[in-house]
Amino acid sequence: IPNVYILAIESSCDDTAAAVLCNDKVLSNVVANQLIHNQYGGVVPELASRAHQQNIVPVIEAALKKANIQKEQLSAIAFTQGPGLMGSLLVGSSFAKSMALALGIPLIAVNHMHAHILAHFIDEEGYDKPTFPFLALTISGGHTQIVRVDDFFDLTIIGETTDDAVGEAFDKSAKILGLPYPGGPLVDKNAQLGNPKAFPFTKPKVPGLDFSFSGLKTAILYFIQKKKAENPAFVEENINDICASIQHTIIEILMDKIKLAVKETGIKQIAIGGGVSANSGIRNTLKETETKYGWKTYIPKFEYTTDNAAMIGIVGYQKFLFQKFETADVVSKARIAF
Ligand code: KG4
Ligand code: ZN
Repeated sequence: IPNVYILAIESSCDDTAAAVLCNDKVLSNVVANQLIHNQYGGVVPELASRAHQQNIVPVIEAALKKANIQKEQLSAIAFTQGPGLMGSLLVGSSFAKSMALALGIPLIAVNHMHAHILAHFIDEEGYDKPTFPFLALTISGGHTQIVRVDDFFDLTIIGETTDDAVGEAFDKSAKILGLPYPGGPLVDKNAQLGNPKAFPFTKPKVPGLDFSFSGLKTAILYFIQKKKAENPAFVEENINDICASIQHTIIEILMDKIKLAVKETGIKQIAIGGGVSANSGIRNTLKETETKYGWKTYIPKFEYTTDNAAMIGIVGYQKFLFQKFETADVVSKARIAF
């Protein structure tokens, strides 16, 4: 079988990314982050689309150059169809369509959430791939899902957030504490020096495997307001303990649901992805379950957990093998099912 070369493009939110894969191996993985949003405390859709327009050609050129691949060698172009911000998605899909048309090669549409999960199948030295069936926990600034994965194209969402994503819970809590956006990594850093049991926060009561994080944010806001009224320096004096307590509560919310998912499905293989899987507390807690409960956990390389195009490429490769191609009238979708 000849080698399959996929150029993959990801532009669903605020990162413009391109990757080149040879079969299931990554030859290059380039991301242009958009730092412009940080000053606004969140992603501004209009600015994101505009930055994608600026970045997409240089990012693709860089990915091809780094991979040492000529565009004429490409077998297909894969792009993120959704979910995401419509203006951002349109930049990637329009570019992918034009390039596939110009080169006369197939076009492959990829679901971003599917990609976060199949990222575990990128061939990396020393990385043990999960075997089917497994449970995928996708946690980022935009997503919080538990997915039962029975095969490459047989995925079922068994739990998801009913309001904020877990990354938003971190970022919004950080904002209440006066930490700059995105605050998730800073909460993690401070939490490592604090007492996770210092300030108990109530966990939300959500039925089944679904999540809710908006109540926690409100509870934190009221708690901080009350404490600051008593002592204006409360946050500064207790920042590590506050962060540790918030992180501890978020981890408990996640772990309660994963434990329930394991109980309901009997599946003990847990694969995590998304930017929040960088959290040291989550990583440690998950690792502990291997000896504590006999689970097997999978955490991919950091560059494959945050938004990237290599993960789009691995889905593209799998779809290429099954000739799952699109016609030129394929449209971007802000919301999309597996
Ligand atoms: O996957 P990602 O880069 O972008 C999307 O949202 O799709 O995830 C970014 C999110 C942000 O909310 C950020 O605060 C959070 O991941 N994050 C963390 C950590 N590193 C990134 N949250 C908690 N602890 C971390 N170490
Ligand atoms: Zn994502």
